[in-house]
Amino acid sequence: MTPGDNRRPSDSLMYGNVVFSLPDSLYLLLRDLIVERTGVLFDEPKRSLLADKLSGLVTSNGLTSLLDYYYLLRYDDPAGNHLAELMDRLAVPETFFWRQSEQLQAIANIVAPAHFARHPDRPLRIWSAACCSGEEPISVAIALAETGQLQPGAVEIVATDGSRAMIERALRGEYAERSFRQLPEKLKERYFEPVGDRWRPLDRLRRVIRYDIANLARPADVHRFAAADVILCRNVFIYFADDVIRDVVRVFHNSMPPDAYLFLGAAESLTRLGVDLQLAEVGGAFAYVKARARAQAERKSIAAPSASAAVDVPEPSHEWRA
Ligand SMILES: C[S@@+](CC[C@H](N)C(=O)[O-])C[C@H]1O[C@@H](n2cnc3c(N)ncnc32)[C@H](O)[C@@H]1O
Repeated sequence: MTPGDNRRPSDSLMYGNVVFSLPDSLYLLLRDLIVERTGVLFDEPKRSLLADKLSGLVTSNGLTSLLDYYYLLRYDDPAGNHLAELMDRLAVPETFFWRQSEQLQAIANIVAPAHFARHPDRPLRIWSAACCSGEEPISVAIALAETGQLQPGAVEIVATDGSRAMIERALRGEYAERSFRQLPEKLKERYFEPVGDRWRPLDRLRRVIRYDIANLARPADVHRFAAADVILCRNVFIYFADDVIRDVVRVFHNSMPPDAYLFLGAAESLTRLGVDLQLAEVGGAFAYVKARARAQAERKSIAAPSASAAVDVPEPSHEWRA
């Protein structure tokens, strides 16, 4: 890094805010630190987007350069407050109810009945791992309610996101019209009540969902929740560096029960990454499963679930214990 190459705010204005300069050497330092702390990769085509996103944090923290911000995040963040602020800044709050509904239906029609047949005494544990403002876990709860499986005590949904601001929105639980663009009208009428110009899910959905903050780039956070029967980790890996995805999926693999399912977003694939999970078709949707569960998953896509397909279930982590 050459002295002074990163100290001068550019005089360019973007949306009324100063965008600080991001020379090569500083770009690489910040890019790698952000991958390490958040998983999110700002590759070269996204370099100016990175400068734009971070510049607001430079000024709001009373700093005068992106180099100062780098030092702040790297060396002066013992309580993680600056990381939390960064997660909020980087969050892409794009989500809606009934997204990839074929996956929701596979969970309700195939995965849940098979689980209840095999483990009649144990709740179905579902983790929505980047739940954003909460539309995803509520959609899963609706799919289960539609099939009569959202009985008290039978289903536990934990919904987490790396962004505190997103979890606050999810806890508020009031949704504007744009969140409903794919939810059939009859389901909206059945499961939501109006609150002013917004809509709130009924308590019978809300009470099976617990919200928390979890950063997927922190293995300890992933480990806390990954002993789930179903993990939805949708539309977040598209932003991640490959090495981080591999690390996250390794923890999933080690923690998931043998008959658990991982659902990703439509644009996301693990096949090129050489991970241990394998792609399987489940009731018309695609999911990743451990090798041992794969044959079962393929059978389930054409046959009714059977209680005889019992498999060992590891002890859940304390996060899932009552
Ligand atoms: C585009 S939304 C996807 C929401 C939902 N899963 C869906 O498919 O509709 C991406 C979410 O990932 C979250 N996110 C980004 N990096 C994360 C990380 N390291 N850990 C946890 N969540 C993260 C963002 O805060 C954002 O809410």
